[in-house]
Amino acid sequence: MASYLLALPLLLASISLLLTPVACDEKQCLLKGINSFRQSQNLSTLTSNDKASCFAKQIAKQLEGQPCSHVTDPNTVPGVPEILRKCKVKINYTTDGLMLSVCVAKRVPNLVLNNFTKTFYTSYLKNSNFTGAGIGTEDDWTVIVLSTSTLAGSFSSFACRVSWSFYYLISVMVLFLF
Ligand SMILES: *[C@@H]1O[C@H](CO)[C@@H](O)[C@H](O)[C@H]1NC(C)=O
Ligand SMILES: *[C@@H]1O[C@H](CO)[C@@H](O)[C@H](O)[C@H]1NC(C)=O
Ligand SMILES: *[C@@H]1O[C@H](CO)[C@@H](O)[C@H](O)[C@H]1NC(C)=O
Ligand SMILES: *[C@@H]1O[C@H](CO)[C@@H](O)[C@H](O)[C@H]1NC(C)=O
Repeated sequence: MASYLLALPLLLASISLLLTPVACDEKQCLLKGINSFRQSQNLSTLTSNDKASCFAKQIAKQLEGQPCSHVTDPNTVPGVPEILRKCKVKINYTTDGLMLSVCVAKRVPNLVLNNFTKTFYTSYLKNSNFTGAGIGTEDDWTVIVLSTSTLAGSFSSFACRVSWSFYYLISVMVLFLF
């Protein structure tokens, strides 16, 4: 009898161990994955940047409800000036950043990570100038905003391509995160 009583807490403890979630949430895990990728490239890891996170979250909100086939020129994403104000990101006096977004149904974590590290985006994530990152997610969208610690010029570009029989949105936008 006594042994049963002892076994029960042990059993419960092992069940709760099995049920313990991984040590990072979705966004932290993604950043970890990207940082492992950066380390494999002998690059510094990206630290979480609050303003970049704020911006990424707001952009993700703009993409909420949009199908993966939706292609937006980030220059015309409505409300960018408002987002800049909300996040206290100034166009002037800033360091340059980059916005990358991928659309993966149900945001399956390893597919999202691979879409960032094993596609067209790889070259951006391999850039040693980036030092910080912020992540925003909404529906099928995952947005990463990369920030640098240097003051650089601005550019804005947009590219779109079709891959794996679905429309794949690639949007690149340089932001100024101060
Ligand atoms: C990273 O550095 C190690 C040791 O210096 C080197 O062997 C390896 O090739 C480097 N990897 C990359 C991707 O540059
Ligand atoms: C940035 O701000 C400084 C000082 O307020 C100003 O002199 C400069 O013209 C501004 N640059 C741009 C691109 O707005
Ligand atoms: C990117 O995501 C799509 C699903 O949206 C998936 O089919 C594809 O395999 C992913 N790409 C990579 C390189 O993992
Ligand atoms: C990093 O930034 C410097 C200064 O803006 C630029 O000259 C250099 O090309 C950048 N490096 C990469 C890999 O983009």
